[in-house]
Amino acid sequence: MCGIIGYIGKRNIIEVLISGLKHLEYRGYDSSGIAILKENKILRYRATGKISKLESSLPTSLISHQESSNGYSLGIGHTRWATHGKPSEENAHPHIDCNRNFVIVHNGIIENFLELKSKLQHHKFSSETDTEVVVHLIEKNYNGNMLEAIKNTIKLLEGSYAIVLISRLEPQKLFFARKDSPLIIGIGEDETFIASDVISMLGYTNKFIFLENYDYGEISNTEIKIYNLNSEKLQQRSVNIVNWTPQMIEKSGFKHFMLKEIYEQPQVLRENITARVFSEEIVFSEEIKFTKKLLKNIQKILIIGCGTSYHAALVCKYFFEHVLKIPVETDVGSEFRYRECILQKNTLVIFISQSGETADTLASLRIVKQYKLPTLGVCNVIGSSLFREADSTIYIRCGPEIGVASTKAFTGQLVCLYIFGLYLAKIKQTISQKRYIELLNSIYKVPTYIEQILSDTSYIKQLAKMFYTKHDFLYLARGINYPIALEGALKLKEISYIHAEGYPAGEMKHGPIALIDKEMPVVIIATKGSLLQKVFSNLEEVKSREAKVIALTNYGVESKSIDYKLVLPETDEFVSPILNVVPLQLLAYYIADLLNREIDQPRNLAKSVTVE
Ligand code: G6P
Repeated sequence: MCGIIGYIGKRNIIEVLISGLKHLEYRGYDSSGIAILKENKILRYRATGKISKLESSLPTSLISHQESSNGYSLGIGHTRWATHGKPSEENAHPHIDCNRNFVIVHNGIIENFLELKSKLQHHKFSSETDTEVVVHLIEKNYNGNMLEAIKNTIKLLEGSYAIVLISRLEPQKLFFARKDSPLIIGIGEDETFIASDVISMLGYTNKFIFLENYDYGEISNTEIKIYNLNSEKLQQRSVNIVNWTPQMIEKSGFKHFMLKEIYEQPQVLRENITARVFSEEIVFSEEIKFTKKLLKNIQKILIIGCGTSYHAALVCKYFFEHVLKIPVETDVGSEFRYRECILQKNTLVIFISQSGETADTLASLRIVKQYKLPTLGVCNVIGSSLFREADSTIYIRCGPEIGVASTKAFTGQLVCLYIFGLYLAKIKQTISQKRYIELLNSIYKVPTYIEQILSDTSYIKQLAKMFYTKHDFLYLARGINYPIALEGALKLKEISYIHAEGYPAGEMKHGPIALIDKEMPVVIIATKGSLLQKVFSNLEEVKSREAKVIALTNYGVESKSIDYKLVLPETDEFVSPILNVVPLQLLAYYIADLLNREIDQPRNLAKSVTVE
């Protein structure tokens, strides 16, 4: 997915670029590079592996370097998650043209790069990337005006791009263009930043311009000019204040961001609840822009997401069907966008995405918008594409989530959507007052119950020590907790690299039961609820194949077939997924820690998947 940064200002350019790249590392971390202008020459440094490797490879003379007589420096940087071309120094960005006049960083995919490359036969390419074709096109199209060259180049590109460029021919400016990949300008005092996210600029400013599709332009030390390919006119873009603080992106004494984010859950969930629930009333003020009439007429809900956000969609399907009594369908973005889905009128389509930039989710949103159905985003990043493109967006107020494995955003999504579900149920009059109050009360108690779970994790750590050497895990559950089995297994896979499967416990006999032997730990969700007896039968089936059974359960639930019992606070069955996922996040975390994995940046994964 890659992360990019550019800077113009009077700070030490190397420090700004390296620090920005370290914050962007969650987006990709197989290679990185920077480029600056020095004595009107482009200097470029690249390395494979983590940003720290790039940093240690830089000459010391460069680190103390300050460019230009007027005191302004400028440069660009990139951290890569390989799509076209293996991770190597040659394929690392920035990429440069034949005559070393232009240098570019890019996030996205140029889908027609082979076709474009075939028309650039006299150009010397030195990488296997799709990006390199862009810098050669700029070289070809340059006739003394960079903005013209950029405009004429991006007209030829198919696919997605966030691009930042510098040129020794117009040396006092950063140039940029954006389509379908995020690009944000950070406005400081006498300095300007441009990057893939706000996190990488938070230490310097909280004022941001979120660029839109087909925007391109230039940044000098005196002004920012934004044009748009559609209108070709100078654009006025609003400056947004983001109230995240630099402290939010520190580990604050935790070993990993993931652990910090697990521990932040009570606080962020409380904030989400108190922002919208006032005694017995739910208020969505500005967030939900739909009329009550439109909401009342909703006959069906479709929820789309990817990864952990898809698991949130699955949990909500059960919850919405319970409170709204209308059909709810779910899909992952990568499937939805290519299937012949029959979209009926009066369907509300919900898109869940922590980042608001996941390519498959956004592509699905754009398809649905063509059908003129109401679209609702659920998102953690203000200014993201989902935020801007959905008709209404619920902001999940979780603060920056840095660990690649999503934790607090997942429970944040659930709490917000549960509250929305109840709000809608009230409007549609599909819920009794008694059930509404029961559920609202249970939601209120979630932060306190999670605090209880987090106050003593010694047993979870013990379990991690017992099982971290195993090669396969099975996670089982039924009903509304089935998606939590999927999420528990996903957490373990993502950060420990142990094979794990999540399965509906009742389906186990149709296949996975064949895998079970005495080596296999089976994590089963057996908290109180209407399906507990059914879960018990599945537990017996597992135990009779000698599996080691770890059960998430409540006080008073007894079974001889449970080998290891994790007792959780008792809550409403429909609210229980929000509690049950927490010990599973911790189990995955402690196992991965014992295995010495790179928990915040697991191999091959990226936090924000902005390519298809
Ligand atoms: C990546 C991340 C996951 C995340 C998924 C969807 O795979 O590693 O943690 O759940 O993308 O991301 P989104 O930002 O759309 O929720």
